[in-house]
Amino acid sequence: MLGRKERFACFLLSNICSAWAGLLYPRTSQSREVQLLDGMWNFRIDDSPNRNAGFEQRWYERSLSETGQVIPMPVPSSYNDITEDGRIRDFVGWAWYDTEFFLSSDWANKRVVLRIDSAQYNAIVWVNSKQVMTHQGGHIPFQAEINQYLTVLSDGPNRLTVAVNNTLTPHTIPPGTIDWPAKDSPIPYPPNYFTQTLQMDSFNYAGIDRHVSLYTTPKSYIDDITITTNIVDTTGIVNYRVVTVGDIPQGDITVRILNKTGAIVGQGGGSSGTIQIPNANLWWAINTNSLHQPGYLYTLEVHTGQDVDADVYRLPFGIRTIKVVGRKILLNNEEFYFKGVGIHNEAEIRGRGLDYAMIVKDFNLMRWVGANSFRTAVFPFSEEWMDQADQQGFLVADEVPAVGLNSLDNLSNQTLQNHMNAMSELIQRDKNRPSVFLWSVANEPRTDRPESLPYFQKIINFTRSLDPSRLISFMCNHDFNTDKCVHLVDLIFINRYIGWYTQTGLLDLIQPQLKYDLDQWAETFNKPLVISEYGAGTMPEIHRVPSTVFSEEYQIDFLSRYHRTFDSALGNLTGEFIWCLTDFNTYQSITRVNGNKKGIFTRERQPKMSAFNLRHRYLTFNNTDFCIENRCT
Ligand SMILES: *[C@@H]1O[C@H](CO)[C@@H](O)[C@H](O)[C@H]1NC(C)=O
Ligand SMILES: *[C@@H]1O[C@H](CO)[C@@H](O)[C@H](O)[C@H]1NC(C)=O
Ligand SMILES: *[C@@H]1O[C@H](CO)[C@@H](O)[C@H](O)[C@H]1NC(C)=O
Ligand SMILES: *[C@@H]1O[C@H](CO)[C@@H](O)[C@H](O)[C@H]1NC(C)=O
Ligand SMILES: *[C@@H]1O[C@H](CO)[C@@H](O)[C@H](O)[C@H]1NC(C)=O
Ligand SMILES: *[C@@H]1O[C@H](CO)[C@@H](O)[C@H](O)[C@H]1NC(C)=O
Ligand SMILES: *[C@@H]1O[C@H](CO)[C@@H](O)[C@H](O)[C@H]1NC(C)=O
Repeated sequence: MLGRKERFACFLLSNICSAWAGLLYPRTSQSREVQLLDGMWNFRIDDSPNRNAGFEQRWYERSLSETGQVIPMPVPSSYNDITEDGRIRDFVGWAWYDTEFFLSSDWANKRVVLRIDSAQYNAIVWVNSKQVMTHQGGHIPFQAEINQYLTVLSDGPNRLTVAVNNTLTPHTIPPGTIDWPAKDSPIPYPPNYFTQTLQMDSFNYAGIDRHVSLYTTPKSYIDDITITTNIVDTTGIVNYRVVTVGDIPQGDITVRILNKTGAIVGQGGGSSGTIQIPNANLWWAINTNSLHQPGYLYTLEVHTGQDVDADVYRLPFGIRTIKVVGRKILLNNEEFYFKGVGIHNEAEIRGRGLDYAMIVKDFNLMRWVGANSFRTAVFPFSEEWMDQADQQGFLVADEVPAVGLNSLDNLSNQTLQNHMNAMSELIQRDKNRPSVFLWSVANEPRTDRPESLPYFQKIINFTRSLDPSRLISFMCNHDFNTDKCVHLVDLIFINRYIGWYTQTGLLDLIQPQLKYDLDQWAETFNKPLVISEYGAGTMPEIHRVPSTVFSEEYQIDFLSRYHRTFDSALGNLTGEFIWCLTDFNTYQSITRVNGNKKGIFTRERQPKMSAFNLRHRYLTFNNTDFCIENRCT
């Protein structure tokens, strides 16, 4: 089932092998049905002094409403961002959910899988009082076959109970600590008082924030599919590998490739193979070259046989290559410049969790500013979000939640294990997406010490062993002469804040110092160089001339100096990701005014003046069509 490298990785870290079970998105087909369990669930926090009453009293053995007072809680959503109760907003510990569902009697002879697309961070799941799965880490789906727990297939409700713990520890990804007052503190505190300290510029959204679903497969089924592509002249080369479970003879597996209008353009058979597509439609990025149609997707259709028990799965994919040549990035052998946006926590506005309307809105904003790429800072986004990147043609830097690895003490072996686990789960989920060009293993980690090198060698080597077909990097906030790990990456991403966190308000220093910085990076490493963050906090509707920090004018003055510098470094620089698309919520801090305000749009998705500035830059950059229509010079 596993390739040699994957087996080796599993040998090193036996506890992550479960991640190599498939994570195919639940899709309907002739052989599969999907039932969403989203909706209004029952909810309560366990604020007992030891945060353990739920386990001591076995809340999972009854309806949650019989254990105490419950409130309605939408799934998906973040429970700590939608009530008026400060105790729930600030709650740390186990939060409990339950709901009931019926199954169609047609499901009696099928394999039934329960899938939770994300729960932050630690989850335990029971069906009809029996524990069916646990998972550590947010933002990634986890699932289990639950047939044996469904005692009442047709004549009674099934109860689904989920306990979710948002406690971050020194070894979770991301890390955090629980801080108690000193035992002998003379300063009074309320009883059992503790706080959670985060090491990230984020609000610690908690709960079940994406879909929960049930789906069926036949008893023998397709567990996983892996696709890699290449291009030779005008022919698309599609390598596929299908992993099945159960009694499915190799020879029964058939594979077809359908184009966008449903015509069969390629066929194969067996559990792995290569299919050639002459004159392939390549997957291109949007807002890049008007001659290319962005986001062209084919469908790989797998059948495990001809009879009624056969499984059928359809996986969308794109044909494209991504390569590094010297200081350049090539998409389908054409030079590519990232007109990027950093996005923090998709659809995070007011704890909506997964929200289709917000996905559409944010993609519309990206299209409107003329972006061709984005970074999923500092967490993996939902699969529904990533589907739009594939379909609309945005290249994605896909990041694990390894944010806050701030000191050598935070780089323990136990953290590394969780970090590898998070990497392998993300790759397992997103490995077939044409939009994903890069695995980002961390944001602003402590990489400027020689002692950090073994940790980052291991996580980068591990990531490469799981997917050699994509680029690997981390978002670096150190200097060209202090970072000790950046030589390991395929392309260098740097976060820069001259004129904001440093040299605050000193706009005249941006161009000379940033240009010097870019030249030094280019000279020292001779790799593609991308600005992964640059931005200034901006309160909408504060105006100042001459500009001062936090005014809309300062954001524009700041950005235009960066843009002029980027233009003067073209050739060495291969892209820019503005920080960031929209304002976002953070934990309470005297450096954040109701959250991080570096967005070019507000949290309500309305533009600041800077949004027009970036839109002009991106739409005119290497886009002669736009300039002809809009008479720009
Ligand atoms: C759950 O929350 C409690 C309270 O914060 C904490 O002590 C415990 O370690 C957490 N357990 C897990 C598995 O996260
Ligand atoms: C990270 O390391 C610092 C420095 O030793 C320490 O103060 C902090 O508690 C650590 N954070 C975590 C989450 O362990
Ligand atoms: C799909 O393939 C058929 C047959 O080759 C062709 O006629 C059709 O134009 C193709 N559709 C697209 C969208 O490429
Ligand atoms: C963009 O345009 C500049 C100036 O015309 C050119 O030097 C550069 O190669 C172009 N870059 C890309 C990625 O097309
Ligand atoms: C981490 O693991 C490495 C290699 O297995 C070992 O040499 C090192 O001592 C471990 N570090 C700690 C702090 O346990
Ligand atoms: C990582 O891979 C490189 C190149 O394959 C190898 O030289 C190095 O020893 C590896 N390091 C670790 C820690 O596995
Ligand atoms: C690119 O970097 C080199 C240093 O390697 C520097 O000499 C050169 O001026 C830079 N080119 C541009 C266009 O910035």
